[in-house]
Amino acid sequence: MVKVNLGGCNSFVNEADYEAYVEKALAALEVLENETGAGNDFLGWKHLPSETLNSTLVADCEAIRDLWKSKGVDLVVVIGIGGSYLGAKCALEALSHQFGKQLKNKGEAPEIVFAGQNLSEEYMCELMDLVQERNAACVVISKSGTTTEPAVAFRLIKKYIEEKYGKAEAAERIVAVTDKARGALKGLATQEGYNTFVIEDNVGGRFSVLTPVGILPIVLAGFDMKAMLEGALEMEKACAEKCGCNPAIQYAAMRNALYNQGKKIEILVAYNPKLTFLGEWWKQLYGESEGKNGLGIFPASVNFTTDLHSMGQYIQDGERTLMETVVTVEKSNRSMLIENDPQNLDGLNFLTGKHVEECNAMAELGTKLAHIDGGVPQISLSIERINEYNLGALFYFFEKACGISGYMLGVNPFDQPGVEAYKKNMFALLGKPGYEAQAEALKARL
Ligand code: PA5
Repeated sequence: MVKVNLGGCNSFVNEADYEAYVEKALAALEVLENETGAGNDFLGWKHLPSETLNSTLVADCEAIRDLWKSKGVDLVVVIGIGGSYLGAKCALEALSHQFGKQLKNKGEAPEIVFAGQNLSEEYMCELMDLVQERNAACVVISKSGTTTEPAVAFRLIKKYIEEKYGKAEAAERIVAVTDKARGALKGLATQEGYNTFVIEDNVGGRFSVLTPVGILPIVLAGFDMKAMLEGALEMEKACAEKCGCNPAIQYAAMRNALYNQGKKIEILVAYNPKLTFLGEWWKQLYGESEGKNGLGIFPASVNFTTDLHSMGQYIQDGERTLMETVVTVEKSNRSMLIENDPQNLDGLNFLTGKHVEECNAMAELGTKLAHIDGGVPQISLSIERINEYNLGALFYFFEKACGISGYMLGVNPFDQPGVEAYKKNMFALLGKPGYEAQAEALKARL
């Protein structure tokens, strides 16, 4: 369950104003539920938790996990970018042991590494150094099947796997997650006989973490996908409530109220490094959904207390256009006490008997009060602990609130026309057939 606490905004938005925004949020929810708004052909994500729990999808992913286990696969390269990457990366970072790769007992699950999320030659070379040492398989994820970054990475990995294991075995070591009918990857997967999972047409990339895009890598990494879907299901129900008690309504209403007061930048804050990629996933979700027509809150993210030592000064004292949304984790999954040191040379004996997490919690509380004093309102979202269930709840909560918030802003939250501009220039500069005139025009500007 995700709980919203808006107490940190009390001195910025008065009750009457907030209630007015709640009314607007409820109107936006109505549009979302009735599917009458812009982009309404991209609302397939709304019922994914309930639908997926009633399907064989998780079992189908487990079958791939078991097949690869029988082959001794110890490395899975997951290829994808944007919405075809960030959800799985976020889940794996949040749920995995942070030093798991260095531990002697690495566990049973294969190591998951990501590719296709950049065009760095060094990254690909270094990845191949690893792949060559290991018993590897690959999941290639691209809804469109035409995105350059994953397509380039897949071409290289596919060639290696085919050369090392032979064509027939490669077909058992490569799984494609793509659109059901269109796109180059679909055609290639059919021709090569790869196991294939479908991303439905009505789910956009950044809303796809609870489709095979996220589910397959999460299952392969050994995590409890059913628990994640159950957490999402709880929020599917809570975030459909037509009342001010709906947490997605509360979050969407307050961030829009603050935006209209000049708080143009929202910083997602976590106090646990495991949640760093939650910030990355969230930035895509909100940035790509709301940043259009000259509008939209700019989404940024930090990890405290780490970034208090780099960004803390600006947040406390810089331009007053910031709001913070803090993801509070109520309980640590591990326990470690700070012990008494008879010499006390560091002067820290006042911490004796306290948990490290208590220091973290006091840092969080102290920072909240300091930032509010500094003119930074704070929305708090809390989960009990980091686990599959609560991560699923966060994913769904943020998606639903994003749809509501985008409609409140007056944009289509489900398209991303601006993403095309760089691609056209890149294709022209790389000499893609059909882009000759654009290439001439660009070169004249360089
Ligand atoms: O949200 C989006 O639509 C994008 O970020 C896409 O997910 C990203 O560009 C990858 O696209 P594809 O899955 O088609 O390769």
